[in-house]
Amino acid sequence: MKGLILSGGRGTRLRPITYTRAKQLIPVGNKPILFYGIEAIVKAGIKDIGIIVGDTRDEVMAAAGDGKQFGCKITYIHQPEPLGLAHAVLTAGKFLGKSRFVMYLGDNVIQNGITDLVRDFETKKPNAQILLAHVPEPSQFGVAELKGGKVARLEEKPKKPRSDLALVGVYMFDHNILTAAKSIKPSGRGELEITDAISWLINNGLRVDPYIIQGWWKDTGKIEDLLWANRILLDELEYSVKGRVDGKSLVEGKVVVEKGAVIKNSTVRGPAAIGAGAVIEDSYVGPFTSVGRGAQVRRCELEHSILLDECEVCDVGARIIDSLIGRKARVARGDLKPRAYRFMLGDQSEVGIL
Ligand code: DAU
Repeated sequence: MKGLILSGGRGTRLRPITYTRAKQLIPVGNKPILFYGIEAIVKAGIKDIGIIVGDTRDEVMAAAGDGKQFGCKITYIHQPEPLGLAHAVLTAGKFLGKSRFVMYLGDNVIQNGITDLVRDFETKKPNAQILLAHVPEPSQFGVAELKGGKVARLEEKPKKPRSDLALVGVYMFDHNILTAAKSIKPSGRGELEITDAISWLINNGLRVDPYIIQGWWKDTGKIEDLLWANRILLDELEYSVKGRVDGKSLVEGKVVVEKGAVIKNSTVRGPAAIGAGAVIEDSYVGPFTSVGRGAQVRRCELEHSILLDECEVCDVGARIIDSLIGRKARVARGDLKPRAYRFMLGDQSEVGIL
């Protein structure tokens, strides 16, 4: 079997971060989201992985490399425009050939990996296997309706969902999905939908098995979902302090302090991760916070937030919570007169003030 990970797309719901950065590379639990997908596929015994890349291809390629760090071989496949998940499958046609494959959306994280699911697919040999999960707001996802344990109908982001069973972003297919993807037309939002391609398989008498997952799963397309995933995954880390913690600091709970990070006169209460080369000074870093590599936090309180690499957060008078702060972004108190808020914000930025 082969693996196909989708790491193209535009990430519109995470702007402005995604104007300059691949959403799949935002770290949750101290690791880029994309790496969870690669690792899950490798763990399931699949070593030949194609990654669909778009505008952010250079960054994705620099992060994942040739796959050696994961024990697999990675082939990058450029999708010039994000014209849909089924379009991505077509773009990968040459890489896939006649192989059976697992398709993994690069912004999804799934508990317990996919090893059992891949084994199930390989044993039962249906034409496709889709993963489903009960969710509170199904209209944000592809939705499946089951009858007698079989998939009766699929709809992409329906206004009036017929069930609460969402399509999880991990699918298993044989080569028939390529024929299906060639046979469908773009949807109302102008994309070749994988949901429509799977419906085509069903309507043409091919076997599509549903598999309802029990563990948690997250599509990290929005900030609240990223923070949610970060929360759960940080909690799974083991205590490890390789950086420097001075005598006036307190580091408690599940905390990772990477090599080269410095903690001075501060409290870090886990679960939390402090990246290599970061500086935390006269500050409080509370639970469920990830501080990126080379970031600087001085005289601040932070909680339940993700700070990307090399950002700077200094002298903010109130606790920062539920935030995502971009690379090299700077939040600081100024001493210019008159005393005022001074912003330079990218398009679609959001600031919550007291
Ligand atoms: O997360 C599960 C959901 O993923 C499913 O329930 C939906 O049925 C499915 O359509 C998909 O919905 P999203 O709207 O969340 O998909 P999104 O546009 O976020 O794309 C998912 C991943 O695929 C993301 O990592 C970007 C990548 N992608 C997306 C498109 C449209 C590509 O690589 N190429 C593309 O053309």
